[in-house]
Amino acid sequence: MTPMTNQPPSPSAEPRHWNEVPCAPPPGAVLGHIGKLADGSVTMAEITESAESKGSGVFRYLLLRSASDVRAYVNRCAHFGVPLAARQDLLKFQPHVRITCNVHYAHYRWSDGLCTAGDCEGESLLAIPVAVDADGTIRIAP
Ligand code: FES
Repeated sequence: MTPMTNQPPSPSAEPRHWNEVPCAPPPGAVLGHIGKLADGSVTMAEITESAESKGSGVFRYLLLRSASDVRAYVNRCAHFGVPLAARQDLLKFQPHVRITCNVHYAHYRWSDGLCTAGDCEGESLLAIPVAVDADGTIRIAP
């Protein structure tokens, strides 16, 4: 049995941008609809492999809504590279303020994904640039 440590994986293997994550969808891909996001909510979502994606598997992301502002981050903690929560009901966040990883409780700032407290302080969630169409569709921006 491998002992559990608080040491993150090798930094050289870590993606630095959202589009370096395996199976990242291309710009223009639909991530959701603003009408399905409550104000102050964080929603876990995923896209399964598509013909246009770079790899195989699942691309997991978070959608945050604050009034008409929508932000998206890869659902991948900067500490261990795992999702911030296993299920939506386990996701911890303070509306409009922060998201908390529920593995070792790193705190990420809502507005830019910067880790402000925890084992990966100073690192960030990978932000995904988004645009909201006139009909409310949220897409990855070019
Ligand atoms: S995995 Fe350690 S804080 Fe997220």
